[in-house]
Amino acid sequence: MKYMNVGSAEINASQVVLGCMRMNEKTVDESQSIIETAVNNGINFFDHADIYGRGASEELFGQALKNSEIKREDIFIQSKAGIRKGMFDFSKEHLMTTVEGSLKRLQTDYLDFLLLHRPDALYEPEEIAETFDLLKSQGKVRYFGVSNQNPYQIELLNKYLNVPITANQLQFGPAHTGMIDAGFNVNMLNDAGINRDGGILDYCRLHNITIQPWSPYQVDLGQGLFIKHPDYKELTQTLNEMAEEKGITLEALTIAWINRHPANMQPIIGTMNLDRITAIAQGADIQLSREEWYKIYLSAGNTLP
Ligand SMILES: NC(=O)c1ccc[n+]([C@@H]2O[C@H](COP(=O)([O-])OP(=O)(O)OC[C@H]3O[C@@H](n4cnc5c(N)ncnc54)[C@H](OP(=O)(O)O)[C@@H]3O)[C@@H](O)[C@H]2O)c1
Repeated sequence: MKYMNVGSAEINASQVVLGCMRMNEKTVDESQSIIETAVNNGINFFDHADIYGRGASEELFGQALKNSEIKREDIFIQSKAGIRKGMFDFSKEHLMTTVEGSLKRLQTDYLDFLLLHRPDALYEPEEIAETFDLLKSQGKVRYFGVSNQNPYQIELLNKYLNVPITANQLQFGPAHTGMIDAGFNVNMLNDAGINRDGGILDYCRLHNITIQPWSPYQVDLGQGLFIKHPDYKELTQTLNEMAEEKGITLEALTIAWINRHPANMQPIIGTMNLDRITAIAQGADIQLSREEWYKIYLSAGNTLP
């Protein structure tokens, strides 16, 4: 396992993050095994949101961590806030209440990272700055970040924030490559050339913001896993063959493909399966060649101009 800073936060965070969105489907004992398996394999960074399982994921994690021998200070806990039923809400009142709820459910005094979950059209950056300052001064949150935001949204926030944006969570994986497709197709009239994110990949690299790719094994939101998707048979076959040659699993190779990109991303895996967590953690450090990286990219149906 490689360890890295997250943006300007100089910490030893594992490059692979375990996302806990699906932990609500597990029991406390199962959650404890999941956390312990992750930690025993070098994963020390866990991603949450108040809405995962309507709070149940955080609650299970908090209880399971308490039952384990893992010390709170030996891991990093990140949570996200700002999604409500039928709306997004970055108001001070909602963010403060959400953090209080997350701390209680997670049975901890502080979050290492708090991210704004999905852009709220009605957000007021001055209010967010005040909220972040308060959360930091109260010792409730150490570092801050965003999720699913484009460069101008981050610029606007940065005009007012007194704390750095350390991370931006964005969907990315071999079957979801919009962030890099546009860069290959600058000024072209094809669909791949459409810049849907304002150049967020290069923006994050320029501003030392760590991209945390979410759902690395999924196609676009709601379309499921690429290994089960008819459009990604060639990708699955290429990954399986290459993984076998290297003696790792398809899941580990997928993360190695993300990690080969020089942006030094921090992918978030969502499996709750102990064998898959172990295999990914053990295989994701494999360094792919340029040829291998491009072969995987092209096998997903992408073309180069
Ligand atoms: N910021 C955002 O807007 C946002 C949005 C979505 C997610 N996230 C974060 O990203 C994390 C990861 O998301 P995700 O769970 O969608 O990611 P994922 O790692 O792409 O998918 C995990 C799911 O795929 C299944 N899976 C993986 N490999 C499989 C295989 N070979 N065969 C069958 N099933 C397989 C897992 O089942 P098993 O458990 O059985 O392995 C699990 O249900 C979340 O936990 C959350 O922390 C953030």
